[in-house]
Amino acid sequence: MKRIIITIDGYSSCGKSTLAKQVAKELNYVFVDSGAMYRAITLYFFRNNIDLENKEAIIKAIGEIDLSFAYNEANGTSDMIMNGENVEVAIREMAISERVSLVAAIEEVRTFTVAEQQKNTINKGIVMDGRDIGTVVFPEAELKIFLTANPEIRVERRYLQLIKTNPLITKEEIKVNLESRDYIDTHREISPLRKADDAIVIDNSFMNREEQFALVLKLASERMN
Ligand code: DC
Repeated sequence: MKRIIITIDGYSSCGKSTLAKQVAKELNYVFVDSGAMYRAITLYFFRNNIDLENKEAIIKAIGEIDLSFAYNEANGTSDMIMNGENVEVAIREMAISERVSLVAAIEEVRTFTVAEQQKNTINKGIVMDGRDIGTVVFPEAELKIFLTANPEIRVERRYLQLIKTNPLITKEEIKVNLESRDYIDTHREISPLRKADDAIVIDNSFMNREEQFALVLKLASERMN
């Protein structure tokens, strides 16, 4: 069977990472959560008070950041490591969600991140989720998915996820954050979120995990054979 690259792009909180992880596990492929990389950079900028208007400070800060993923045996996924620190929990906090789209719109940040994402891909066998993976990072990918779901359902899903660690979170707060991120992600100048011409759209509003997984696996095996 041929090893392929699978890209899963789409709006925030559509379940991209959950699906990508499941598919990667089944195929024994590497899973890369590209959003985690933008979140880690945002965390670094936030902790170090980097002014997002100051190009010089941004370039210097990027030079100080080392990103990698570490396999987490407890849950079978990979955690984001920034400069040797496991930041998997810290990057999911609201303070980072509120800032990440602005950081991800910066040209120098995208150049660095895309180069990191394109490393070590010679053997393929990758499932990567994000916003520009099928359009910019791997335009040659054999299978491109564009995942979408209706906004109320996305808020509800995100709420159920975040309430576990933040009992004070409100649906309104999440709705505002998702709307603002979607707006910035689709309207930024550099590689905005858009469906690649050859991507397959999956609206998972009324699909369960197993249905999505079965569909993507079927599409993948057609391309692997
Ligand atoms: O997938 P996520 O919600 O963790 O991503 C966080 C932010 O990072 C998202 O609002 C937009 C940005 N992002 C991006 O610009 N390009 C990617 N390939 C992945 C994420």
